[in-house]
Amino acid sequence: MVLEHKDYRHIPVMLDDVLRCLEPVPGKVVVDATLGGGGHAGAILEKLQPGGKLIGIDQDDDALEAARIRLSSFGSSFKAVKANFRQISELIKGFGMSGIDGLLFDLGVSSFQLESPDRGFSYRDDVLLDMRMDKDLSQTAADLLRDLSARQLAEIFREYGEEKWAGRIASFIVKYRSRHGPVLRSGQLVEIIRDAIPAAARRRGGHPAKRVFQALRIAVNNELDSLKSGLDQGVGALLPGGRIVVIAYHSLEDGIVKERFVEGARGCVCPPGIPVCVCHKLPVLKILTRKPLYAGQRELAENPRARSARLRAAEKLA
Ligand SMILES: C[S@@+](CC[C@H](N)C(=O)[O-])C[C@H]1O[C@@H](n2cnc3c(N)ncnc32)[C@H](O)[C@@H]1O
Repeated sequence: MVLEHKDYRHIPVMLDDVLRCLEPVPGKVVVDATLGGGGHAGAILEKLQPGGKLIGIDQDDDALEAARIRLSSFGSSFKAVKANFRQISELIKGFGMSGIDGLLFDLGVSSFQLESPDRGFSYRDDVLLDMRMDKDLSQTAADLLRDLSARQLAEIFREYGEEKWAGRIASFIVKYRSRHGPVLRSGQLVEIIRDAIPAAARRRGGHPAKRVFQALRIAVNNELDSLKSGLDQGVGALLPGGRIVVIAYHSLEDGIVKERFVEGARGCVCPPGIPVCVCHKLPVLKILTRKPLYAGQRELAENPRARSARLRAAEKLA
């Protein structure tokens, strides 16, 4: 079964908090760096009218198509662009703009991507292990599982999945490969992971394949490097008073967001005891959320995806 654009279902996470923190008002320009099906974007666009503009970025053609259909009534106030958000600076310059008033990142994959069997993200169905958000990328998850050594696989599972059994799972994959050929399907991988993790440990911490699938997805899409670069460029592109809002879904993402915000909010970094500042570093951000915000009980009951969401927001200083 292949899901079609009309089937694009993804409930925008923490929408009220996004709108409150982003403060979109008529006439302003906002970039949604993770457009998806346009759920957040549609609500932001309503607040930007009249006279405002939203530029939506996504690296997934299906998401862009769904968003273009959903937001067509906004006419020229809405533009959808296929790109990786690590290209934000050049995109903004390409639109002839000197800066933007708001920027949203709603990270990770959409429910539509997760539930589309042909995209290969799911450990719950038996699907081909693709996991590319951008189908133009050359390497799929199955390619990584075929080409990488046990050491390289273990490193990915440990670093991107925080998987305790990384080494054991990697060596089971390599053993499987040499006996039965490449691991192409999620069903095969789930079985290998189940065999590799001792029974007692398998009963803790959710689905036993969750962390390895997360790790492979991050590696295939080079997600963490894109995030660092996208955040730096995005903060650089904000006009004074502009807001940035980021929703992260796991601690690796959230750690990067927190670190970037704290760094942006820090002034002088001269060693203590220096009589006069020589670094001349000025804060560029004011953090609006000292602690991350989480979805409320009502939203959690309606949208299980919101369970792992943490939202951070900051304002660009003059
Ligand atoms: C959680 S969904 C966004 C859903 C959206 N906020 C909505 O309400 O419909 C994340 C989207 O970001 C896209 N994405 C993730 N990383 C990206 C990147 N580095 N560059 C561009 N798009 C990215 C994914 O393809 C996916 O469509």
